[in-house]
Amino acid sequence: MSQKALWSGRFKESLSKAALTFSSSIEFDKQLYQEDIAGSIAHVEMLSACRIITAAEARKIRNTLKAIQKEIETGKFPLGDEEEDIHLAIEQRLIQKIGPVGGKLHTARSRNDQIALDERLFLRTAVREIQKLITHLQRVLLYKSEKYFGVLMPGYTHVQRAQPVLLAHHLLAYVSMLERDYERLGDCLKRSNKSPLGAAALAGTSFPIDRMKTAKKLGFDGIVENSIDAVSDRDYILEFVSACSILAMHLSRMAEEFVLWSTKEFAFVQISDAYTTGSSIMPQKKNPDIAELIRGKTGSVYGNLMNLLTMMKALPLAYNRDMQEDKAPLFETVKTVRTSLFVMTHMLVHTEFRKEHLEEELRNDFTSATDVADYLVRKGLPFREAHEITGRIVSYCIDHRMYFGNLDLETLKTFSKHFEADIFDFLLPRQSVEQKKSAGSTSPQEVKKQIVHWTRVLKARK
Ligand code: ARG
Repeated sequence: MSQKALWSGRFKESLSKAALTFSSSIEFDKQLYQEDIAGSIAHVEMLSACRIITAAEARKIRNTLKAIQKEIETGKFPLGDEEEDIHLAIEQRLIQKIGPVGGKLHTARSRNDQIALDERLFLRTAVREIQKLITHLQRVLLYKSEKYFGVLMPGYTHVQRAQPVLLAHHLLAYVSMLERDYERLGDCLKRSNKSPLGAAALAGTSFPIDRMKTAKKLGFDGIVENSIDAVSDRDYILEFVSACSILAMHLSRMAEEFVLWSTKEFAFVQISDAYTTGSSIMPQKKNPDIAELIRGKTGSVYGNLMNLLTMMKALPLAYNRDMQEDKAPLFETVKTVRTSLFVMTHMLVHTEFRKEHLEEELRNDFTSATDVADYLVRKGLPFREAHEITGRIVSYCIDHRMYFGNLDLETLKTFSKHFEADIFDFLLPRQSVEQKKSAGSTSPQEVKKQIVHWTRVLKARK
């Protein structure tokens, strides 16, 4: 702060250098300069419309704020760490440029409603950007589902092979998961897109302001009614970071599959070189670092949520300076989630699924065992009995180094008299998938329905 602080009237001494460094938030909140200026312009125009300041004063302030925005963008007004925060830095600059009339901007306003406003504006943009990135990832998943439609893979539970599924079905599970993330972010926006401006410090103001006017100008759906709530609340950030934590968890699970599936042990995918790295010592290595980092960065998003919840948990109403600590976790969450979504999408574009290998793996296994049991059930056996018999067949095959494909009817009949020639319509993985009847199952018809559904939904989305 090169000049006296704007709040220095009742102080005999200025803030110590150490206290300023400790308390300054400019390092983080300078990111909010656009929101801060947009909010100030809306406020000053409202002040003039309500005849609290003159039209000429408002014009002067507005034009200068626009000029300050340009100065910031061209580096002519560097926001250094000697500033306390973005709000004071801009106001100070305004007064420096046009003199005391600049001081009228802060009529009927406080930094308390100002910061809540800036954050809500910032969040709105962030939510829309993240929703776009989610949509891109969903589109690539859908594209891959169509490209590999019909390709089988082992479905897993407990990371043990369970039942054959279509690869498309597995990929579309992620589309559904991401859709909930998209909706959760939208829900959070519904609640957060309200203007706190005009709450002033906490009690409102005696000036005849029009809160709805600024709310409308700034594209809000209404105002945060209670002025104390308006400046005390950070639920909008908590909800947003919660939604982002779930989203990051989904990305992390997907990343984990990339890591597993690119191992020699699985060998389901081939990630392009552009999204993998080498080892500084082991020349043969190709490591899935990008997927690992998406998985790893999830921790910082969860950490941000815990940070914010803990910071808020015992704050008396209304504003407390503790709340300034919300910036770093908020901005960090937005950055992490955006970059993770972006690289995940590109990595997926540049990943090939090894279809021959996926299907080959299924042939050498027992993933259609449930179908064998179901077959016996259709022949009249209780499921538990059918389960037991099929288990014995699996054990027999393991002892004799065989798979279902090697069994003949004679052998099968030694396990149950109910086996007939039609069992051979159920033994193979593809038959298992094709025999599925239930809604949302992995049968090609049901998966096709999902593809049609998501094509329509994602096409309609901007
Ligand atoms: N830099 C502050 C924050 O981010 C702005 C609000 C400060 N208000 C105050 N009365 N000190 O929370």
